[in-house]
Amino acid sequence: MSLYEHFTSKGPSGFGYGSTAEQVTAGLSLAGKTILVTGCNSGLGLETMRVLAMRGARVACTARTVDKAKAAGDSVAGETVPFACELSDPASVRACVAAVRERGLRLDAIVANVGIMALPALQTTHGYELQFFTNHIGHFMLVTGLLDQLTDAGRVVMLSSAAHRNAPKGGIQFDNLDGRKGYGSWANYGQAKLANILFAKELSRRFAGTTRTANAVHPGVIHTNLGRHMNPVATAVFGLVGPLALKSVPQGAATQVFVATHPSIAGVSGEYFADCNVAKPRADANDPELAARLWKVSEEIVARLP
Ligand SMILES: NC(=O)c1ccc[n+]([C@@H]2O[C@H](COP(=O)([O-])OP(=O)(O)OC[C@H]3O[C@@H](n4cnc5c(N)ncnc54)[C@H](OP(=O)(O)O)[C@@H]3O)[C@@H](O)[C@H]2O)c1
Repeated sequence: MSLYEHFTSKGPSGFGYGSTAEQVTAGLSLAGKTILVTGCNSGLGLETMRVLAMRGARVACTARTVDKAKAAGDSVAGETVPFACELSDPASVRACVAAVRERGLRLDAIVANVGIMALPALQTTHGYELQFFTNHIGHFMLVTGLLDQLTDAGRVVMLSSAAHRNAPKGGIQFDNLDGRKGYGSWANYGQAKLANILFAKELSRRFAGTTRTANAVHPGVIHTNLGRHMNPVATAVFGLVGPLALKSVPQGAATQVFVATHPSIAGVSGEYFADCNVAKPRADANDPELAARLWKVSEEIVARLP
């Protein structure tokens, strides 16, 4: 396939690399739906919230603080409900779960969008490597805590990345979750993003026999604040080539918005999507034993947290 075809072709869904979040929801009314989006103040989360609200959904939007979430929500047209959720702080995640419950929100979808990428040096919190903790454990706590709020046909959408392919051989380093036996900025980001897929797979298995779904997505490569930890030269190059060679933010938000809302994929679960179509992740992302083990270990980690 030529580069031009790659950028312009559409897959079986009717959408492709160049589709935007507005295009994948064209003609769709989300009135009466409530969708929770984490990380609503920046990049793909902000665009996801904007388009969902524009189509009539009420968006429960989270950011590190309620002020940040409120400012982001107020910047878009439509109904938004702000919540604080600092994913690296278990008390904040639990408080968010409690606040959503107290508001009595029934969630038609959860878009687990928060992510940090490629921290140059090892950082830990609560004894775990920070990307694993923020991207995976924080969302594990939030999503499992909110399952009672999910509607019968509720959809869980986990933001992964093609960078899950950089995860260490063997997938998840269960004997090195604090990173002290070895750390690589991309390997550990990859491990966290592989964990996001494995979580969606195991959740989907647990949803079997219901009409709820859980999927993971790769949004594409988009110049956002996600690159803040990359070295300044790489960030500058990214900024320069971005408009020419990378997806735009509206294109980057399309896959998660599509998977969270599109009627054509009702009932599709346990998949990995890229460019608004089902795609193939790394082989061990499909390993049910690895997914089940990660779930069990995550439960044990959460049980020990303050
Ligand atoms: N951009 C890409 O090329 C790309 C490619 C593949 C996958 N992804 C995935 O797409 C998702 C969205 O990324 P993006 O590109 O939109 O990045 P972004 O602009 O940096 O947005 C990330 C969001 O996560 C929030 N966040 C980070 N750490 C947090 C924490 N501990 N607690 C609460 N919120 C936290 C950020 O809040 P603050 O602003 O307060 O830090 C921000 O709202 C991520 O999961 C990322 O891994 C992106």
